[in-house]
Amino acid sequence: MCGIVGYTGKQQAAPILLDGLSKLEYRGYDSAGVAVRNSSGKHEVVKTNGRLGVLSDMLDGGKALKGVCGIGHTRWATHGMPSEANAHPHFNDDRSVVAVHNGIIENYGALKDKLTSKGYTFYSETDTEIATKLVDYYYKKWNDPIEAMVSFSLRVRGSYAMAVMFEDYPEEIFIARKDSPLIVGITGDETFLASDVPAILKYTRNIYYVDNMEIARLEKGKATFYNVDKKVITKKSVKIDWDVEAAEKGGYAHFMLKEMHEQPEVVANTLNAFIKNGKINLSEGGLTDEHLKSIGNIQIAACGSAYHVGVAAKYVIEDLARVPVNVDVASEFRYRNPIFGSNDLLIVISQSGETADTLAALREAKGRGVKTLAVVNVLGSSIAREADAALYTKAGPEISVATTKAYSAQLIVAYLVAVQLAFVRGTIDGERYKNLIAQLQTIPAEIKKLLDCDEKLKWFATKISNKKDVFFIGRGIDYAICLEGSLKLKEISYIHSEAYAAGELKHGTISLIEDDTLVIGVVTQMQLAEKSVSNLIEVEARGAYIMSVTVNGNYAIEKQSKLTLYIPNIDPCFTASLAVIPLQLLSYYVGVARGLDVDKPRNLAKCVAVE
Ligand code: AGP
Repeated sequence: MCGIVGYTGKQQAAPILLDGLSKLEYRGYDSAGVAVRNSSGKHEVVKTNGRLGVLSDMLDGGKALKGVCGIGHTRWATHGMPSEANAHPHFNDDRSVVAVHNGIIENYGALKDKLTSKGYTFYSETDTEIATKLVDYYYKKWNDPIEAMVSFSLRVRGSYAMAVMFEDYPEEIFIARKDSPLIVGITGDETFLASDVPAILKYTRNIYYVDNMEIARLEKGKATFYNVDKKVITKKSVKIDWDVEAAEKGGYAHFMLKEMHEQPEVVANTLNAFIKNGKINLSEGGLTDEHLKSIGNIQIAACGSAYHVGVAAKYVIEDLARVPVNVDVASEFRYRNPIFGSNDLLIVISQSGETADTLAALREAKGRGVKTLAVVNVLGSSIAREADAALYTKAGPEISVATTKAYSAQLIVAYLVAVQLAFVRGTIDGERYKNLIAQLQTIPAEIKKLLDCDEKLKWFATKISNKKDVFFIGRGIDYAICLEGSLKLKEISYIHSEAYAAGELKHGTISLIEDDTLVIGVVTQMQLAEKSVSNLIEVEARGAYIMSVTVNGNYAIEKQSKLTLYIPNIDPCFTASLAVIPLQLLSYYVGVARGLDVDKPRNLAKCVAVE
């Protein structure tokens, strides 16, 4: 997510903005900028495509930019590559209106058309420039900044934390918020704003959380809050007692836990990026319906958790669209002299967009003239740039080495490709298409419910934290879920675990099952449930200690399980998004129970950019 900072008071603003943005660097960004109102009442904007240190050097630590009111931003690119032109702050033609924004404006296309018809031109690829010029449009229309912010709030769809300076209102900042966090801090005759607590914690611990559809006028030492009816609202301040490190994690003990809890928002953002008016539209990523119709076979190459998304995607795509899918770990794919058909598509999946093996797999296919699609989280990353088409997950920067929210967002993109592929090729009808989309849109809320009921998992984690070997077993998509659950446990707790196709156990591995061996059974594919349950009973008969994850209403394995976790019923194609949640939580709590550094597990890097 981007970082936002603002200040109006008696001190020079630029050093405070740079300091605040430096406290948000942990969130990840690719460019940065500030705008300060100078002594002649004009807005000076300075920005860079690069690290905050570059910006600070450009400004001599802030000393080169004089003025006591300003806004600053660190950008995590969502619309438009990382570049100086796309960096924030953005402004209207005469810079009399300057703004920074965090979030995603979903109807930016329609708004751009509207503004273009009113004579506006655009210098960047960003939704934020459009948002800024929309505020300018309404300000010129109403000649009132609050009215302009209200009209903006009512007109845009999507998420935003917006901070705006108007030349006509010296030393004032106007803000609006929907879904993207924004806070205000006041101390004496100084007022601060930020997208996250760490940015202003050193100045004040008394903050106001701006709520959805609220607007505020910030003056020196004063904040006036309004609702969209322009009525003044009274808000209570909150005392923050976190230390700085806790503040960076939003009060969570670890980034991994924070990012797990961001999954509902991330999944919703990813769905909203591709579902418009009840239909899936992948064409912005370069995957048109025409192209989907022409695809021969699909090959998927990825690493780690991204590979596990590919395994789940194989089951979903083949089930719905009847298109053959081959999935491989990228490090194998790149060297096995893969065979492609004339209309094959290679899909590479990567959070970082820099994983060496995955990039090499992409290049291998491109070198053979094969069409390539990247499912990737980082705009402007090597894989995003080199693929013929790219579908972006909206996970925001993922700090914890163990992926959770990016994995969930990748799953969503895989489902969207599968459903759209099936619909355009006629293997599902309009009714099922609508129903599948409706079910996808229930996932964010269901994930939230699962995240909130983690008490049993905390208890179970302490009971199993000394296990030496764990087996995850499942069939079909349940096997794909087991792969991810097993990797999460391994990489976070250092406990050896294996994911096994449940039907394969009897071909050798079952010899390892002995008294008290922990076996975690995933049983969400009800058409295979009877067989999966039999496999669990087989291992239980050999002394295994069972935990199971299954769907509401399936009590067949409860008797044999020390813990049975139920997920809501959803189309079997989508159960991975729900069943993985208790497995993520379990791994996290086992890692914590073992006193390990959950965010930075030993031997691991967040991005494996080398072979
Ligand atoms: C996931 O928890 C791991 N940290 C790791 O397996 C990761 O998924 C893998 O390295 C792929 O990374 P990428 O998605 O950035 O390509």
